[in-house]
Amino acid sequence: MMIRTKQPWRILRPQIDEQTEEIMEIDPIELRNALGRFATGVCVVTTASEGRAPIGMTVNSFSSLSLDPPLVLWSIQRDSDCRAAFDAASTYCINVLASDQKELSGRFARKNQHEVNEADRFFEGELGLPVLMGCLVAFECTIDARLDGGDHIILVGRVKAVHQGDGDKPLLFFAGGYQELAS
Ligand SMILES: Cc1cc2nc3c(=O)[nH]c(=O)nc-3n(C[C@H](O)[C@H](O)[C@H](O)COP(=O)(O)O)c2cc1C
Repeated sequence: MMIRTKQPWRILRPQIDEQTEEIMEIDPIELRNALGRFATGVCVVTTASEGRAPIGMTVNSFSSLSLDPPLVLWSIQRDSDCRAAFDAASTYCINVLASDQKELSGRFARKNQHEVNEADRFFEGELGLPVLMGCLVAFECTIDARLDGGDHIILVGRVKAVHQGDGDKPLLFFAGGYQELAS
């Protein structure tokens, strides 16, 4: 079937450099903005390993992967200051944030602010990981695989314990900003 309606939207595609005639990838900023139109939840991933202070990092790359076996994933920027901690770790905990935890999300997204300290409202989970009070749900995982994901590394986790909070309002991220569900 021929669809004759004219393409009504602006289209992003690789361009050819007029001078070098090389194909250039889609502009990364435009691509990031386009990808940002996919709404996500927000999580703080924590980890703790022998001889290192426990840390947390804000991410929205979390995704469910498999029920049998029980797998989840998220990805970390290769050049993140948190890389060393997650490289050394064999476990992590995904803390899914509630709508009233925006400040916490901001705090764990700032450089040099990753240490989980006494003032933070965490408790120790089954695997000895920091579990965040007030989050919607937390998944303690062992790290099953580290996969190449371009400028990110994909960390596949096997879920070993689930902590269920009682909140029902998620913190959302859309188009570069925080959002909440309309009631
Ligand atoms: C809503 C939100 C989602 C983010 N998602 C990710 C992510 O999935 N992976 C990642 O590596 N960084 C992500 N970041 C960025 C890190 O939180 C932040 O860059 C990092 O903690 C600060 O840089 P550093 O890791 O070098 O200290 C996200 C930040 C925000 C605010």
